[in-house]
Amino acid sequence: MIRVGINGYGTIGRRVADAVGLQEDMELVGVTKARPDYRATMAIEKGIPVYVANNEHAAAFDKAKVPYAGSLGDLLKLVDVVVDATPELGAEYKPVYEMAGIKALFQGGEEHELTGSSFVAQCNYDSVRGKNMTRVVSCNTTGLCRVLHALDESFGVAKARAVLVRRAADPDEISKGPIDAIVLDPTTLPSHHGPDVQTVLPALKIATMAVKVPVTHMHLHSLMITLKRPPTKEEAVQALHDAPRTLLVSGKSGFKSTAQVIDWARERGRPRNDVYEAVVWSDSVSMVDDEVCLFLGVQQEAIVVPENVDAIRALLTDIPAADSIRTTDVSMGIAHHG
Ligand SMILES: NC(=O)c1ccc[n+]([C@@H]2O[C@H](COP(=O)([O-])OP(=O)(O)OC[C@H]3O[C@@H](n4cnc5c(N)ncnc54)[C@H](OP(=O)(O)O)[C@@H]3O)[C@@H](O)[C@H]2O)c1
Repeated sequence: MIRVGINGYGTIGRRVADAVGLQEDMELVGVTKARPDYRATMAIEKGIPVYVANNEHAAAFDKAKVPYAGSLGDLLKLVDVVVDATPELGAEYKPVYEMAGIKALFQGGEEHELTGSSFVAQCNYDSVRGKNMTRVVSCNTTGLCRVLHALDESFGVAKARAVLVRRAADPDEISKGPIDAIVLDPTTLPSHHGPDVQTVLPALKIATMAVKVPVTHMHLHSLMITLKRPPTKEEAVQALHDAPRTLLVSGKSGFKSTAQVIDWARERGRPRNDVYEAVVWSDSVSMVDDEVCLFLGVQQEAIVVPENVDAIRALLTDIPAADSIRTTDVSMGIAHHG
């Protein structure tokens, strides 16, 4: 059993904790919380040991009379690997994990340079083997990597261009905007998303731009990808269908917007309405000369969760990539066609 601790039990940490709990080869040893709020008490009710990362957090728990299992240092002594899901405090915690002599994985809010290794399971699982740490890339980078890697494998990507329409905040982030604006994110071009894809797919030529809109539930990317061996539309759709962790939807079936994707997840009974897949509108997939154009949806809170599970196996075991991806997918109810 791989013993897993999670530092930070927020949007990503809570989901990774539940996904780890579904794995037969992993044990969730505990999580940390900063505030003794309802999420802390709900974790305790679920039987998850809750630790605190520092004295200030301990004092807040003591004051609220919410019990905790110990300090972050206590938790790190009990685990083989820590998943850092803090609000981009990786640089502060990296030496703490190193001192504890355990493996660590970080999230996409951190710079690639923090670990020198960035991870998307279906693209570069084996590159992480034997390393002490890696970074699971951001939600947008994960979605782009899944789709671009699938097309590159089948048809060769000469270059990719993407315009990202980004959700402004997660659903519970009540003080983040914009409320009534489309924010150029950033105004200078290209955006950082292309170089972030290159931390996983270094040879891929890509340029991106992004805007932020007053939405909380998903990102939507418009992609134009020049292919070396242009396929038919049907061949392109098939390649995307066959890739792991992609979900094909279509306007004809009622998926007119991101809202129907979330509704689909709700109807599937997915925990928290989560969509772990990169969502491709099959009717958007079109060949224009040697370019394929398509719409890609990314649910920011969920897409990286299966990647975290696979990154744990890649860091700590000899299990082949395809086996880990299949195991993770089956456990989480993701249709597997990898
Ligand atoms: N949210 C997304 O859509 C998304 C998608 C992909 C990647 N990411 C990345 O994932 C990482 C985590 O983001 P998130 O959205 O999950 O953040 P979040 O919801 O703000 O959760 C952060 C967690 O860290 C805890 N925390 C706060 N200060 C801490 C400290 N000093 N030490 C240890 N833990 C502390 C918080 O505790 P309390 O709950 O008690 O406040 C919370 O549980 C970031 O790198 C982010 O860029 C986020």
